[in-house]
Amino acid sequence: MATHIPFCLWLTIITIPHLVSTLAQHDNYIIHMDLLAMPKAFSGYHSWYLATLSSVLDNSDDLSAKHIYTYSNVMNGFSASLSPTQLEALKSSPGYISSIRDLPAKVDTTHSSQFIGLNHISGAWPASNYGKDVIIGLVDTGIWPESESFKDDGMSDIPSKWKGECESGTKFNSSLCNKKLIGARFFNKGLIAKNPNITITVNSTRDTEGHGTHTSTTAAGNYVGGASYFGYATGKAGGMAPLARVAMYKALWEQGSFASDVIAAIDQAITDGVDVISLSFGLDGIPLYEDPVAIATFAALERGIFVTTSAGNEGPFLETLHNGTPWVITVAASTVDRQFGGILTLGDEVSVSGLSLYPGNFPSSRIPVVFMGLCDNLNELIKVRNKIVVCEDKNDTLGDQVYNVTRAKVVAGVFISNSSDLELVIQSTFPVIFINPKDGEVVKDYIKSNSAPGASLVFKVTTLGTKPAPSVTSYSSRGPSQSCPFVLKPDITAPGSLILAAWPEKIPAVEGDSLSLFNNFNLLSGTSMSCPHIAGVAALLKGVHPDWSPAAIRSAIMTTSHTLDNTLSPITDIGNDNQPATPLALGAGHVNPNKAVDPGLIYDINSEDYVNLLCALNYSKNNIKTITRSALNNCSNPSLDLNYPSFIVFFNANDSASDPDLKTAKEFHRTVTNIGEGESTYSASVTTIEGFEINVIPNNLVFEQSNEKLSYTVRIRGPKLMKETVAFGYLTWEDGIHVVRSPIVVTSLRSELLSSQN
Ligand SMILES: *[C@@H]1O[C@H](CO)[C@@H](O)[C@H](O)[C@H]1NC(C)=O
Ligand SMILES: *[C@@H]1O[C@H](CO)[C@@H](O)[C@H](O)[C@H]1NC(C)=O
Ligand SMILES: *[C@@H]1O[C@H](CO)[C@@H](O)[C@H](O)[C@H]1NC(C)=O
Ligand SMILES: *[C@@H]1O[C@H](CO)[C@@H](O)[C@H](O)[C@H]1NC(C)=O
Ligand SMILES: *[C@@H]1O[C@H](CO)[C@@H](O)[C@H](O)[C@H]1NC(C)=O
Ligand SMILES: *[C@@H]1O[C@H](CO)[C@@H](O)[C@H](O)[C@H]1NC(C)=O
Ligand SMILES: *[C@@H]1O[C@H](CO)[C@@H](O)[C@H](O)[C@H]1NC(C)=O
Ligand SMILES: *[C@@H]1O[C@H](CO)[C@@H](O)[C@H](O)[C@H]1NC(C)=O
Ligand SMILES: *[C@@H]1O[C@H](CO)[C@@H](O)[C@H](O)[C@H]1NC(C)=O
Repeated sequence: MATHIPFCLWLTIITIPHLVSTLAQHDNYIIHMDLLAMPKAFSGYHSWYLATLSSVLDNSDDLSAKHIYTYSNVMNGFSASLSPTQLEALKSSPGYISSIRDLPAKVDTTHSSQFIGLNHISGAWPASNYGKDVIIGLVDTGIWPESESFKDDGMSDIPSKWKGECESGTKFNSSLCNKKLIGARFFNKGLIAKNPNITITVNSTRDTEGHGTHTSTTAAGNYVGGASYFGYATGKAGGMAPLARVAMYKALWEQGSFASDVIAAIDQAITDGVDVISLSFGLDGIPLYEDPVAIATFAALERGIFVTTSAGNEGPFLETLHNGTPWVITVAASTVDRQFGGILTLGDEVSVSGLSLYPGNFPSSRIPVVFMGLCDNLNELIKVRNKIVVCEDKNDTLGDQVYNVTRAKVVAGVFISNSSDLELVIQSTFPVIFINPKDGEVVKDYIKSNSAPGASLVFKVTTLGTKPAPSVTSYSSRGPSQSCPFVLKPDITAPGSLILAAWPEKIPAVEGDSLSLFNNFNLLSGTSMSCPHIAGVAALLKGVHPDWSPAAIRSAIMTTSHTLDNTLSPITDIGNDNQPATPLALGAGHVNPNKAVDPGLIYDINSEDYVNLLCALNYSKNNIKTITRSALNNCSNPSLDLNYPSFIVFFNANDSASDPDLKTAKEFHRTVTNIGEGESTYSASVTTIEGFEINVIPNNLVFEQSNEKLSYTVRIRGPKLMKETVAFGYLTWEDGIHVVRSPIVVTSLRSELLSSQN
């Protein structure tokens, strides 16, 4: 039913799961207990909880069916399925502290939309009417048009400006497009020209890999109820801009991807009339004038089209980023506050939770368990095939150990690991679970002190609200940009790890040795996933402010982002020992779409400003022409000082002959546009960076009207010889309503750039 009603009714639909559970009488409750109240007669808290629970159940009830979990670490207590009467009885049991009703299935399983603050009550979703009439074009691996996420129920007619097409081809009929999926085209002439003998088995926009189906539905998938990844992340799925239109330009093929096809695809997207282009790929280590993405997107910029790109998955090392192009937004990847896992319950009834995405069913019985330490010997592992095997991660051998435990086909693998980026190993068809070293000690002690140790495992547990989140992922590529280091990159971070979105039904969602599992949704990780989040957010902003330039949209997204996580501490970097993330990993911060709707001030940039930058990079006339397609590039005003909402300064650490006390200074000039309501006064504040002196002149900006532009200068003085590689702070302009924040990075990387920047 939910799939065939107009959009305006969704608000009422969302409340239905709660109604159903109330009518069903029994509900799941999480019960907090006071351990000090436990009578001495009990051997442990688990048996006390069971006895407490048992005392409130009816004679016909099965205790083991009513008890769900006993918790050991996260809290003192347990969860149970109870009737209202039983819950009331429990409340007068000795030791009862409190209880909360379990809410496992939050309605938006594409949980990242909730996590970045999107909601039906206020902010970017209602203000933009969910991105209605904004067209997002993606250059990717194609699309699976039958996916429910592309259904167009309740959508209005296709905007009249649309000039695109739905091309027929192998297994793709043009009638498959609709008011949601409004365009489908494919580009492989470059690929074929390069390899004349190649066989293109599916010569159409149909997605034979899954990537494009996932990215496009992350950006703009319609709502689909009952989505999940084999029982994890269950609920309703939907993209960031659920009413925006999707046009797919397939230029990435299983057989290879070529710049020529990519440029053709972007070119066509511009002609067709897209508003936003999302590019979840990039090319490494090439100058702007050879980079097809940089070249093609310059034209997009001139037409006012917003382009979002992925930073790459080569982290955590510095200078690994691609798409460091000044006229696009470059997106890093971070985690969300959701974890998938299971519970390991030892024979002494202590349970520990861990991370897992095991998709199958698992016996609930107790199984012998053995501790193997380093699981590196296949022959030894085969000898304990009938057991749950516990392994310890050492020297970064986790991937190999998982591989060998899987090959040995033991009953299940428990891995003790301190790794906080398990994206690459967690998605398995084999029952594996990852527990932390502290819980690992509990498990090891139990196994050591028992002659016949046993344990049971439960999977498919989804936990929301985990902390800290977000954190920058280890794999997310870091700046500075190699192609244009004078513009701080990446620009922003967005959710990228274990993102649930649509998946082609005929492509395995997860594969094992001899097993392929299929599903209409899949969990993927990467900056490929964070990039379309920003495409969706940009579509919402376009919906609210159709007149904003691409630079204005980027500025709004950057200056309103947040730099604190859900523990109110600075966002950390998993790839750097969970230290606070620098802007070279994080960009300006974590996207905050509701704030971006009303940023207060905008740092605008036009195409002439970009030409001035290209001139200052000392590109030849021809190289500049390659990018701008115009012979009229006026290089009389070369400047590396682009009106960007962030700052990066290079200091010279290499020059050991330099006097460490010698100071050097660098100035930046910026112009901000007041897009708030009329009069307002902004004051500047700067966080201290040790050893550096930062002045903002003037440090008050008094605007008398809307759209007024005012300029300021930032002067950064510091030692010529910098001690650390990267230090950072923030410049913030505030008028009492708006907070307009820009990151400042000072670095001794690329010290040879110092002189050119001055
Ligand atoms: C495409 O679909 C339409 C409508 O379902 C059908 O009439 C037509 O024959 C199909 N064309 C091809 C080439 O399969
Ligand atoms: C293509 O195939 C033909 C015939 O098999 C062969 O002669 C030719 O060298 C191949 N060309 C390329 C570029 O591989
Ligand atoms: C793919 O389809 C296009 C358009 O229908 C056609 O021009 C081209 O020759 C086809 N290519 C191959 C390799 O079949
Ligand atoms: C996995 O097993 C293979 C074969 O026994 C062995 O060569 C390899 O070293 C093992 N890997 C690890 C990390 O133990
Ligand atoms: C792990 O690394 C340490 C230090 O690098 C080394 O001494 C040790 O032998 C390694 N252990 C294994 C099992 O490879
Ligand atoms: C695990 O990681 C945390 C945070 O990075 C660190 O403090 C701790 O020492 C590590 N523990 C082990 C056993 O490696
Ligand atoms: C180039 O720009 C400068 C200043 O922006 C201007 O004075 C000059 O007329 C321009 N030259 C051409 C050829 O457009
Ligand atoms: C550092 O200085 C040495 C000697 O002047 C020079 O050869 C080298 O290229 C410099 N390295 C960088 C990264 O600037
Ligand atoms: C461009 O060339 C000028 C003059 O040779 C030089 O001062 C400047 O540092 C160069 N800029 C860059 C970015 O290399």
